[in-house]
Amino acid sequence: MRILFIGDLVGKIGREAISTYLTKLKQHYRPTVTIVNAENAAHGKGLTEKIYKQLLREGVDFMTMGNHTYGQRQIYDFIDDAKRMVRPANFPDEAPGVGMRFIQINDIKLAIINLQGRAFMQDIDDPFKKADILIEEAKKETDYIFVDFHAETTSEKNAMGWYLDGRVSAVVGTHTHIQTADERILPNGTGYITDVGMTGYYDGILGINRDEVINRFITSLPQRHVLPEEGRSVLSGVIIDLDKNGQTKHIERVLINDDHPFN
Ligand SMILES: [Fe+2]
Ligand SMILES: [Fe+2]
Repeated sequence: MRILFIGDLVGKIGREAISTYLTKLKQHYRPTVTIVNAENAAHGKGLTEKIYKQLLREGVDFMTMGNHTYGQRQIYDFIDDAKRMVRPANFPDEAPGVGMRFIQINDIKLAIINLQGRAFMQDIDDPFKKADILIEEAKKETDYIFVDFHAETTSEKNAMGWYLDGRVSAVVGTHTHIQTADERILPNGTGYITDVGMTGYYDGILGINRDEVINRFITSLPQRHVLPEEGRSVLSGVIIDLDKNGQTKHIERVLINDDHPFN
């Protein structure tokens, strides 16, 4: 099984990068399943039903989320019916949506788990203990388990990778929007990367317009985040190949921008 995972899709430019590259990426890599982190897909914050459906039409099979899951009010209306989507599993039980779902691809069942870190983030439930519970549940059905760990610090993500090594197929980090060059296969067969990076505006700061962000650093005054509607794009992803036991046998980064063109 080959997984193509694409990191935090930010706004219109990110969605256009999917339209431009996904077909070509699929022709080149021939993934069995394509998963996208869509927490920033609608104007940088959250996901609308229209965009959810549009991404499915464009060939995305499944979406993971993060701290911006509830950024668009209408998510409350469709998240419980959105069978191709998970939100961080360690949100309180009262939060709409679920944190683990299974998808059937040919003869393989894949469990997709979304977790969120706590270091420099919202103080939600323990993602490590939640992972233990969900993995036990998933293992009854399949050895193919994919985890998107949406977290701020490299250390918390590193810790999750090692904590889950040998128990899940792969742990990929999202949220920082900067791709890390540390993709590897941990000793017990879990594929790992600290952050996949983002898909959106290449000449901004984490996908948003840079002037306001720079001003905030210079003046320490609050600034409005502006999401550009046009500009150069970056697409960040990772390819993960799993063997018949659900372990990673190959992991490679995907990065497409004007400095790393895709041919
Ligand atoms: Fe994000
Ligand atoms: Fe995030």
